[in-house]
Amino acid sequence: MSFPSWPAPLDRRRWLHSVAAATLTTRVAKASPRPALTIRFSHVVAEETPKGLAVQRFQALVEQRSDGRIEVLHYPGAQLYGDQDEMQALQLGAVEMLAPSLSKFGRIGFPEFELFDLPFLFNDAREVRRITEGAIGRRLLKGLSRHGLVGLGFFDNGFKQMSANRPLLAPADFKGLRMRVQASRVIAAQMRALGAQPVNLGFSETRRALANGVVDGTENPVSNFWTQGMHEVQSDLTLTQHGYLGYAVIVNQRFWASLAEGDRALLAQAMHEATDYGNQISEAQNSKALAALRVAGTTRIHVPTGAQRAQLRRAVESVHLALERRIGTAWMQAIRGAL
Ligand code: LMR
Repeated sequence: MSFPSWPAPLDRRRWLHSVAAATLTTRVAKASPRPALTIRFSHVVAEETPKGLAVQRFQALVEQRSDGRIEVLHYPGAQLYGDQDEMQALQLGAVEMLAPSLSKFGRIGFPEFELFDLPFLFNDAREVRRITEGAIGRRLLKGLSRHGLVGLGFFDNGFKQMSANRPLLAPADFKGLRMRVQASRVIAAQMRALGAQPVNLGFSETRRALANGVVDGTENPVSNFWTQGMHEVQSDLTLTQHGYLGYAVIVNQRFWASLAEGDRALLAQAMHEATDYGNQISEAQNSKALAALRVAGTTRIHVPTGAQRAQLRRAVESVHLALERRIGTAWMQAIRGAL
């Protein structure tokens, strides 16, 4: 038996569509009734990232447990909507589920989510968990109802690294660089504190902007860096581990309320298990991406010394105070208490 070879990048999207269509056709032919409920889950990263894999696990669990009555259509890679329009699509009912990064909630009225962007706040994933799985995480998700959203959980990606066409080991290395950032005031302030100029761009535009020299560098976990092919357009990656990137899974409140109670329970349970799965593999996915990057040999990888990291950390301290002023001391005290 021979396996089809992996298609060239340009054909990949079409190929994925045809695989999805074939799967759907088989299911419809076998199970006859059309699915009673369709959930379109859209996000901006690649399938083989922690988020992409967690969504696929959710899809499998839901379809299996509902006997195909509920189908989940997975649209990775900003195929349907990107950072600029996905939230509106959710509000209008053009998609049912999203998992934007926590950094993207500030601009839509939830500045307290930007606490996850604070540089050097978390030492490791266990500390992140103390927040996402504790009282603060529950409060953050509950607060989403302010703007008609329901939060189903938090997905991990991992810790962010800095890239550019030079090593970024000390604040002086950032001077004058245009660094692509997500729409987070905290991340923009972090880049300014390091001496760089932040440029807010959608995720799906980032690789091209790096290639064209519209921006000089960026930050992301290695899984995103690798799956976007950013290594082809950045000569240096510095393993600064300076900040965390995670996601909140959200649905529209009206859509959620329209579901039968049993379906809500099935979806919530499947999401719970998919989250556990995604969070177990996130670190390994980032390590795999780093190993692949080393093999590709396109990008020099730098590891800052303890003293260099401490210097970077000192340079961005003011960012913590600025957020505290914006969201109030109560949040920051709660965080400090939990950590
Ligand atoms: C980014 O915009 O850099 C990330 O939020 C993309 C993602 O969803 O991981």
